[in-house]
Amino acid sequence: METQPCTSSSNRNLIKMPIKRLRSYLIAKSYDYAMRSTEQRCLQEWRNALLSKAYGEVLEIGAGTGVNLPHYPHDVTSVVLSEPDPHMRKSLRCKADKQQREAISIAHWGADSIERPDASFDTIVSTLVLCSVPCLESSLKEINRLLRPGGALLFLEHILSDHPPTRVWQNRIEPFWSFCAGNCRLTRDTSSAISASGLSIEQVIEAPMIGAPAFVSRTIRGIARKS
Ligand SMILES: C[S@@+](CC[C@H](N)C(=O)[O-])C[C@H]1O[C@@H](n2cnc3c(N)ncnc32)[C@H](O)[C@@H]1O
Repeated sequence: METQPCTSSSNRNLIKMPIKRLRSYLIAKSYDYAMRSTEQRCLQEWRNALLSKAYGEVLEIGAGTGVNLPHYPHDVTSVVLSEPDPHMRKSLRCKADKQQREAISIAHWGADSIERPDASFDTIVSTLVLCSVPCLESSLKEINRLLRPGGALLFLEHILSDHPPTRVWQNRIEPFWSFCAGNCRLTRDTSSAISASGLSIEQVIEAPMIGAPAFVSRTIRGIARKS
């Protein structure tokens, strides 16, 4: 006997859509508050040191609520902030409007489909974003395409733990975490992926993110350059 599913697949899609929208709304609304302690304990200082190296025409991928904005040097030529999530983009626009800068623009592009020609940027910034992109390799390929020769990728990312028991937990909780935290993956080996993309890592610092849970605390930050 054929049994009727209690929810048809088209109904399921209709349910998924509002859940995704609600999730994105809640993440955008709570992001700055949820990160406040970690920002004060380490991230602000790391962002400031990292972004002091930005120069020329800058693209930031996954700019979120705009926490990096105060850290850009005043002499960068321009900053394009790309953020695919509409709720994040709303907060981003508010913060960008408060900056005393003219050359800031906001775009909706995802990291793997930036609508700009090859070699458009001197600096690309990615902070806590390469964990969330659907395909790490395609995003790095796009970064490589967009950088001018000698251009810099400034990155700050959390990565797979080097502590085996923590890795086991990262693998176990990743599906749940990823659902709650906007597709954030816990098990990415981002520095190997950056090297494999053809960029050369010029400087990398590894450090635990103070105040973050163990499964998300191992971070790398530094510069990778296009030769
Ligand atoms: C953890 S937040 C980091 C926000 C900000 N960069 C920071 O340093 O606080 C991850 C950001 O990546 C964005 N994101 C998700 N998927 C993306 C994609 N495919 N391309 C670019 N950004 C993406 C999210 O919307 C979110 O704003």
